[in-house]
Amino acid sequence: MLCYWNGAFVPHESVSISPDDRGFLFADGLYEVVRSYRGRFFRFADHLARLEKGARALEFEVSDFSELEEVAYTLLRQNGLTEGDATFYLQVTRGVAPRSHAFPPAGTPLTLYASVKSFQPVPAKAEAGVAVLSVPDQRWSLCAIKTTALTWNVMANQRAKAAGVEEALFFRDGVLTEGSHTNVLVVRDGGIVSPVLNDHILDGVTRRVVLGLCRAEGVPVSERDLSYREVAEQAEELILLGTTTEVMPVVALDGLPIGAGRPGPVTRRLQALFRASVG
Ligand code: PDD
Repeated sequence: MLCYWNGAFVPHESVSISPDDRGFLFADGLYEVVRSYRGRFFRFADHLARLEKGARALEFEVSDFSELEEVAYTLLRQNGLTEGDATFYLQVTRGVAPRSHAFPPAGTPLTLYASVKSFQPVPAKAEAGVAVLSVPDQRWSLCAIKTTALTWNVMANQRAKAAGVEEALFFRDGVLTEGSHTNVLVVRDGGIVSPVLNDHILDGVTRRVVLGLCRAEGVPVSERDLSYREVAEQAEELILLGTTTEVMPVVALDGLPIGAGRPGPVTRRLQALFRASVG
């Protein structure tokens, strides 16, 4: 596989990373995952805008990554991935410098790595729905910045995997935030209720697209805090959203059914609309 490494297209095996890289030492980095459908990236510009916003928030010396769209298409072509589905992974860190908490000297280049891989969705999951479990949201409070510091996401996702379920849903002080690698929506009275878009959740690209589809189709949308009880006992439907997850019905939380315990009509409608929007 060819990847992109600090400005050059090189074989994946030839990349080596310095132990002084800020990404390695401090998780002082940002990442994005972008989906391609039959050779076309979905909402690349939105992912890029989020990356650039993150770079400004972290005061990176560079916050213009507009060359990356061309890089991503080149990687798809060079790796023969223009036919099926694929994902593009991008990571940028504050560069290489002897370990010290404060920023490296001015002019230290950022480290930039990008790669693509083939992606096979699992239609059976989207059809039958998945189970999830709840985990206290003990992450730092700036979850809107897509940093590579994912330790609590890793712990929560592993808990889900060990329990044989698909995803872990975070509750911060009893309020639903998001999943370990997904956004979440609840269906109540036939309308969509989303956790509030604040520092505690990622401004997900899939979430934006789906809420836009809801508004265009006249499905009511509101944003407010949702307690664990409201989700567990009163949700008619529960939906996971994400670049690789797309629109995924959740049929059980912590071993108890959500709504009727099978994918509901609003989720089915959003799945169909989303499928149509990815072309
Ligand atoms: N995850 N929330 C979190 C914590 C995420 O990590 C992600 C994406 C999302 C959904 O965002 P989007 O719709 O922009 O993909 C929400 C990526 C795919 C990952 O970590 O692999």
